[in-house]
Amino acid sequence: MNINNCYNFQQFRKYAKKRLPSAIFHYIDGAADDELTYRRNTTSFDEVDLIPNVLTGVENVDMSVTVMGQKLDMPIYCAPTALQRLFHHEGEIAVAKAASKYGTMFGVSSLATVSVEEIAKVSNSPNLFQFYFHKDRGLNDALLQRAKTANFKVLALTVDTITGGNRERDLKTGFTSPPKLTLESLFSFATHPMWAWNFLTKPKFDMPHLSGYVSEGTNLAVSVGDYFSTMLDQSMNWDDAEKLCSKWDGEFALKGIMNVEDAKRAVDIGCTGIMVSNHGGRQLDGARAPFDQLAEICDAVGDKIDVICEGGIQRGTHVLKALSVGAKACSGGRMYLYSLAAGGQLGVEKALGNFRSEIERDMKLMGVSKLDQLSRKNLRFRN
Ligand code: LAC
Repeated sequence: MNINNCYNFQQFRKYAKKRLPSAIFHYIDGAADDELTYRRNTTSFDEVDLIPNVLTGVENVDMSVTVMGQKLDMPIYCAPTALQRLFHHEGEIAVAKAASKYGTMFGVSSLATVSVEEIAKVSNSPNLFQFYFHKDRGLNDALLQRAKTANFKVLALTVDTITGGNRERDLKTGFTSPPKLTLESLFSFATHPMWAWNFLTKPKFDMPHLSGYVSEGTNLAVSVGDYFSTMLDQSMNWDDAEKLCSKWDGEFALKGIMNVEDAKRAVDIGCTGIMVSNHGGRQLDGARAPFDQLAEICDAVGDKIDVICEGGIQRGTHVLKALSVGAKACSGGRMYLYSLAAGGQLGVEKALGNFRSEIERDMKLMGVSKLDQLSRKNLRFRN
């Protein structure tokens, strides 16, 4: 296998499966309960057909978009995901450099394994900081301050992890952060010597945003579900979100909005964006897919706030479908995580490059030279 032969999401997924110890692969690949929502996040795109226009002169295509005040060279960006140095020793640095090369945004997680300061040093495109609302208010203040000082442009408060999702693959494999050394995991490391060598010889695994506040995840092995259930504040409410928004005093989004009423309330508290997302199907199984729910939300708030369609995106045509409905941009996690696992920075560059060329080709085939020429006139829902 060679990353140059990976033309799509599924090929990167296969490659990642080969390279990663199985517990780590299944942490990325898995979702909640029966994984219905996870699958629907992608299959929802298949129920809508594209209706192209022709003879429109498409020799120059501009796929740039402006989202929450940030100009992006392409309409898809890297959504925040945790623990990236477990997937490849270059971790978040690789993703930051690849996103910069493609002029798109990188979302850095509160649970990142490289600090916002280190990421700011290697990045020259706009960055988003993903915020988990912890019980520890000192940690919350420190997270906000560090992201601000590192010149992060957007703060996104995750609102769909009020408790841990039931990720049965993680229960089965015993996945924790940091990885626990059990007989089974040692066997898996031994059969993936390249991964194990890099993990053991590169700088010690760390979650720098949490240092000094919590040991869970870094010095104390916990599952991600347990982290959510024990460290995050389940009393979080609209007042907290509003206060955080005004404290940040900049571009602010709620990540994980699925309900029209909540979308309207996000506008009321001063948000400039929302991510229509179910956390990649990893939280509430049976929840609706972002693409299925997008039209309702865009109709309600699309003229007041930037709506981002997050999750399930595997193809350029998925992005064009979401933008035709009314999303300003799309974002995804697995769409770059498998490629990170497959080949570090070069892998992520190849995945983003694949998206870029698919979107360019698909725009030409749709007869549009700018993305704002897409509308629901370009779509037919099958039922
Ligand atoms: C997850 C978190 C950490 O879904 O975003 O695993």
